[in-house]
Amino acid sequence: MGHNIKFDGKRVLVTGSTSGIGEACAHVFSEAGAGVMVSGRDQARGQAVAGAIRAAGGQADFIAADLRAPGACESLIRETIQRLGGLDVLINNAGILYTADALATSDAQWLDTMAVNVNALFYLSRAAVKHMKGVGGGAIVNVASEWGLNGEPNHVAYCASKGAVIQITRCMALDHARDGVRVNSVCPGEIHTQMVDAILAERGGDLKSNLRELASGIPMRRLAQPAEVARCVLFLASEHASYVTGANLPVDGGNNATAGPYP
Ligand SMILES: NC(=O)c1ccc[n+]([C@@H]2O[C@H](COP(=O)([O-])OP(=O)(O)OC[C@H]3O[C@@H](n4cnc5c(N)ncnc54)[C@H](OP(=O)(O)O)[C@@H]3O)[C@@H](O)[C@H]2O)c1
Repeated sequence: MGHNIKFDGKRVLVTGSTSGIGEACAHVFSEAGAGVMVSGRDQARGQAVAGAIRAAGGQADFIAADLRAPGACESLIRETIQRLGGLDVLINNAGILYTADALATSDAQWLDTMAVNVNALFYLSRAAVKHMKGVGGGAIVNVASEWGLNGEPNHVAYCASKGAVIQITRCMALDHARDGVRVNSVCPGEIHTQMVDAILAERGGDLKSNLRELASGIPMRRLAQPAEVARCVLFLASEHASYVTGANLPVDGGNNATAGPYP
């Protein structure tokens, strides 16, 4: 799909870009002209994503990082700036999900969720803003969730973590509005990635019919493709959104427009 959003000469770090929405972001930013740093734990998938971008004529590199490791976020920002020659945009997309109510959530699952979805996003954002402020500005886009705006049964840790992402987005947008750093989030609904397949697999039964049932409750009657989220991330990071900061944009086929089940 064509668009006239240009990122020529810009340097973009996408966390969690070894698959799903992050991988789509890496491609969409590259297609807009940006140099892209791909990151995640999986070396083979990360190298494959960066290689595919280069094969298509783009500029991409890969840094393997487990964002839970002490100091990993700060060194990822530092190494990205070294390798790409700067950092104009940070996309905080890496995220994990456990399906469990409070009683079934272990301490380890709670801490793991917070470590990736909240702590790493905060450490990365803090390090990025420190750099961006010094070079005249930049943009951060967080991948929150519709489940950070509303509650969802059996996902207490995940929903709490995404609620925190939405508040980090608002607060950092306020604090850094005068530093030239815009901070926004997207709040995806049901996007067809391995994360959704894993949630549906836990329900048991046939994946295809589970997918059909999920789609039947969404106003648009379908799940989204990862690129449909990536294009919203691209917009929020771009000059087309130059007066947008502190926004949390639902990308959810209409789910967030209603308080109750959609008929
Ligand atoms: N799919 C949806 O419907 C949906 C809806 C709302 C929000 N979201 C959010 O969208 C984001 C992307 O999810 P997705 O659906 O694209 O799922 P995904 O394909 O599972 O992607 C998750 C990414 O996060 C990375 N990651 C996980 N733990 C990490 C760690 N400790 N260190 C570094 N990277 C880590 C993974 O890379 P490695 O495995 O290589 O480490 C992977 O690239 C997440 O924040 C998710 O919460 C998704």
